[in-house]
Amino acid sequence: MAFFSDLKTIYHMLRSGAKGKTHAERLDNFYSGQAEGYDDFRKRLLKGREELWKALADPEVGGGVPEGGIWVDFGGGTGSNLEWFTEEDRKKLSKIYVVDLSQSLLKVCNQRIADKFTDENGNTNCYTAEADATTWTPDEGYADVVTFSYSLTMIPDWFAAMDNALRILKPGGMIGVVDFYVSRKWPAEGLRRHSWFTRSYWPVHFNTDNVYPSPDHVPYLMSHFETVDFQEYYGKIPYIPIIRMPYYTFVGKKKETVSAS
Ligand SMILES: C[S@@+](CC[C@H](N)C(=O)[O-])C[C@H]1O[C@@H](n2cnc3c(N)ncnc32)[C@H](O)[C@@H]1O
Repeated sequence: MAFFSDLKTIYHMLRSGAKGKTHAERLDNFYSGQAEGYDDFRKRLLKGREELWKALADPEVGGGVPEGGIWVDFGGGTGSNLEWFTEEDRKKLSKIYVVDLSQSLLKVCNQRIADKFTDENGNTNCYTAEADATTWTPDEGYADVVTFSYSLTMIPDWFAAMDNALRILKPGGMIGVVDFYVSRKWPAEGLRRHSWFTRSYWPVHFNTDNVYPSPDHVPYLMSHFETVDFQEYYGKIPYIPIIRMPYYTFVGKKKETVSAS
C-alpha cells in the first residue's frame, strides 16, 4: 500500500511543476494533491527531524524545553514535528506555533492538533498561522525556540527567514535547523567538503520542486548564531539507488549581545 501512496505523492510532485504567480500559490499547487500522503513519504525522505527535536529538548545540548516558553516551527507544514515532543515537554510550553504558507498542509496540521493535542475540554497549546516565515511575529512578540525543518531550502528569501528568526528570538533563545545542503567548494575548517558531483547534481535535481539545497545556509547560521551542536550526514532518497543526499542538523543560540565589530 505504501508503494501506491508513494506513487500518488511522486506523481503530484512531478505533475504540479510547482507553478504559480506567487510563492504561496506555487507552494499550494505543489502540496494540494499530496497533503494526505505527505507524512508517510516524507518520513523516509526528511531525516534527522526527531534527532533535532531530541537535541533541543536535551538539557545538555539545546538547554531543554523552556517552561512556559514560546516555540515557533517555521514552515511546519502538517505539524508532524509536534509528534517529536514528549507529552511532558509539550505541556511545559505555553504555546507552539506551526507557521506555514500552504493552506492544504495546515489543514492536515489543524486536524492533527484537534485529534491528538487538544484535551477533552477543547484546550490546546498548539496553534497554526498561515503566514510567511520571513516576516511573521508571534502574538507575544518573541519566541524562546525557533525551528526550521526542511523549510529553509523551500524559502526563496531564506536569509530573510533567518533574520526574522533572529529578530523574534529572545537573547539566549535557541534555533534548530535540519535540512538538505551542499558544501562550499572550499568549506571552512572542520566542515565536510562534498564531491563535485554532489555539489552539482543535487541542486539541479531538487530545482524542479522549488527546493534549493545551498552551500550558504550553514555558514550563514554559524555567523549569525553561536553554534551549540552541528552534525553532517548523508541520507538515502526513496527510489534513488546508490547516491546519497547530504543533510545537517544545527542547534544554535542567539547571542546575548551582538557586538558592532
Ligand atoms: C519540505 S516542507 C517541510 C515541512 C515540515 N517542516 C516537515 O518537516 O515535514 C517545507 C515547508 O515550508 C513551507 N514554506 C515554504 N516557504 C515558506 C514561507 N516563506 N513561509 C512559511 N512557510 C513556508 C512549505 O509550505 C512547506 O510546508
